[in-house]
Amino acid sequence: MSVHKEVKKVTTHTLLEMKQAGRKITMLTGYDFSMARIIDEAGIDVILVGDSASNVMAGHETTLPITLDQMIYHGASVVRAVERALIVVDLPFGSYQGNSKEALHSAIRIMKETGAHAVKLEGGGEVVESIQRILSAGIPVMGHLGLTPQSIYKFGTYAVRAKETEEAARLMEDAKALEKAGCFALVLEKIPSVLATQVTETIQIPSIGIGAGNGVDGQVLVVHDMLGINNDFNPRFVRKYRNLHQEMLHAFQEYIEDVRSDNFPNAKEQY
Ligand code: KIV
Repeated sequence: MSVHKEVKKVTTHTLLEMKQAGRKITMLTGYDFSMARIIDEAGIDVILVGDSASNVMAGHETTLPITLDQMIYHGASVVRAVERALIVVDLPFGSYQGNSKEALHSAIRIMKETGAHAVKLEGGGEVVESIQRILSAGIPVMGHLGLTPQSIYKFGTYAVRAKETEEAARLMEDAKALEKAGCFALVLEKIPSVLATQVTETIQIPSIGIGAGNGVDGQVLVVHDMLGINNDFNPRFVRKYRNLHQEMLHAFQEYIEDVRSDNFPNAKEQY
């Protein structure tokens, strides 16, 4: 008798149920097959194929240069690895801001060419028409408010957003507009925790915070940050669960030393 292990996949509906039941949602970014496989095995709820790939995978200073084709490459790699998690792929800068038809076309390419389950885009009221058009094709959409890195040249800084009353009120209105438009969840990035909590209590859909405190329905971190791979990125909202920069550096140094000293390969490591 073969024992088939049934995997209960996470859906957008699961996330809604988690909010209603007060169970926290876990989300991490993932960009490649091997890492995504481990993250999924760990039991994460959502893997975000973030356009932060532009920073951590490609070494760009901002998320602006990454292309739709490159996001599709990362998305498809993650999809091949994952059994359980919900996979959300970022619509990159320039693939949806132009008009809602272009947004739909980009979202369809992501869904068709990656096999992912949903897309994410940045912005408030100004992207509602695009969200509605994408939803009309049956594609779930996650919103993203607060510090939206694709607008970095408008903000001029990666500092905390919506500290002032006016911007906080606008963010609250945007959150309501995105919920009304049909988003299944919202990322709230780098805003005061009091505001993030108020938004979370106001909307019925789950909020997932990054640098937004613990009054939200879930948390997301960039996987390279929480693993401590990048030595020189240390904002206060990142908890480094490991220092993989050090671990990896030492492993590479040992390997170099072993090869140079003829210690690798040994008798058992050859044919
Ligand atoms: O691209 C990304 O990694 C993101 C998260 C920071 C939410 O959008």
